[in-house]
Amino acid sequence: MQIAFAAPECTPFAKTGGLADVVGALPHELVKLGHKVSVFLPFYTRVRRHIEGEPRYAIRSLTIPFRSCNRFAGIVDGGRRDGVQYYFIDCPELFYRKELYGQGGVDYADNAERFGLFCRAVIEASKQLGAPQIFHVHDWQAALIPVYLRTVYAADPDLRGAATVLTIHNAAYQGTFPPNTTEQLLLPWDVFTMDKLEQYDQFNFLKGGIVFSDLLTTVSRRYAEEIQTPEFGEQLEGILRIRAADLRGILNGVDYTLWNPATDANLAAHYTPQHLDGKRACRSDLLHAFGLEGVAETTPVIGIVTRLATQKGFDIVARITEEIAERDVAVLALGAGDPYYENLFRGWAFRHPASVGVRIGYDEALAHKIEAGSDLFLMPSRYEPCGLNQIYSLKYGTVPIVRATGGLDDTIEEWDAKEGNGTGFKFAGFDPKDLLAEIDRAIAAFHDKKGWTRLMRNGMARDYSWAGPAKEYERVYEEAARRRARRLPQCS
Ligand code: ADP
Ligand code: GLC
Repeated sequence: MQIAFAAPECTPFAKTGGLADVVGALPHELVKLGHKVSVFLPFYTRVRRHIEGEPRYAIRSLTIPFRSCNRFAGIVDGGRRDGVQYYFIDCPELFYRKELYGQGGVDYADNAERFGLFCRAVIEASKQLGAPQIFHVHDWQAALIPVYLRTVYAADPDLRGAATVLTIHNAAYQGTFPPNTTEQLLLPWDVFTMDKLEQYDQFNFLKGGIVFSDLLTTVSRRYAEEIQTPEFGEQLEGILRIRAADLRGILNGVDYTLWNPATDANLAAHYTPQHLDGKRACRSDLLHAFGLEGVAETTPVIGIVTRLATQKGFDIVARITEEIAERDVAVLALGAGDPYYENLFRGWAFRHPASVGVRIGYDEALAHKIEAGSDLFLMPSRYEPCGLNQIYSLKYGTVPIVRATGGLDDTIEEWDAKEGNGTGFKFAGFDPKDLLAEIDRAIAAFHDKKGWTRLMRNGMARDYSWAGPAKEYERVYEEAARRRARRLPQCS
């Protein structure tokens, strides 16, 4: 099949979170299955840095009409990597910026126009480059592609056979804008109704994608159920329940060519389940990076790598920082995002300089070092559609402590010391007491060396490679294509 991915992030070009890891890896796996895959991404300033010399244009200039003006987008040929073709939508006035979505906690004011243009340019480019059978669009920033295809482009002979699949990586980010966005993006007003794009009198990109896509997926089975409830649906639970029969939960895979302690180029030493010695060297290297060389060998190290957002659940950690500090445990955290949480972490390290190390910022290499050098990895998320860091942790023999929600619940099995089964520690309530009890269990388990090695090896033996999920996506594409074919008007 010919599949076009459209997404706002993709490793190695532009990343703020796990979405980039998914869009960076899944296409390669689909190519291995014999599909032709292209990936469309905005040509942000940071994507430009990945291009050597002058960009080569596949299409010099597309006209993208808006209500008040035309904008012009070039399509940069990003070349092929491992069989995947990359195209970047070039519109300097919208994408040459420091960040992807906004700065200092404030979204860019013209995000509707930026990602509206992105969606329309992907469609226009596909008409010239060859329409795919499947548009696989990711999150709200690409969610208008199915909307345009079934409205403004509905009669286009090149495109009307193309099926659409929307993957929801996080239902909390919806892309909501004032009602007149409908007009600004030249969509017909009849899409601005409660059963289509309108949501509490706002224009909602994600809802549009949910209504107009042939099939929907999200990134774990548990989250697929959760988003149909008021607790997790972010007010889209109603429309998601209407489309429940078309919604699949497919757990993300991870890219073991990048996340593997036996080969990871960011580490001080390498290790495998059979030869774990290298992990000790990684731990020393990590403690050194945080200036915490004084932490004893017998003290477990808890690692944290995270976007600092409400989703990630650090409010409950905030309420027990002093209790954690009283225990024989060190904490090393890397994170960036909401200034409230950044300050919370800074304050924690300031109060306990000998046992808590904090780095505020985005640092790819340090993220790998924390995965390898820690003994435990903490993810107390309020909700977690999939979560990749706990899956990386398993591979690195770093035992996850997680809240039992979404993909965290689907991927981590509670440790049973008697039976020697399980891969980590899970707590259910969003309650500091529950978290503290789980940390205590983890510390106790750490001191039973034999059991601990077993626990590490259980996790390292788990296989979350993309091969399985890619086959599940293949089935989704086939089903979407069949449905689209049935919906086409038949000639007699
Ligand atoms: P989310 O996408 O919700 O942020 P995931 O667990 O799916 O959560 O993915 C997060 C990804 O982003 C991981 O690859 C993680 O290593 C990376 N990451 C998050 N914060 C940072 C940071 N401050 N520095 C480096 N990498 C980070
Ligand atoms: C989102 C979710 C995260 C998921 C990632 C990739 O950012 O918050 O849980 O792992 O997308 O699907």
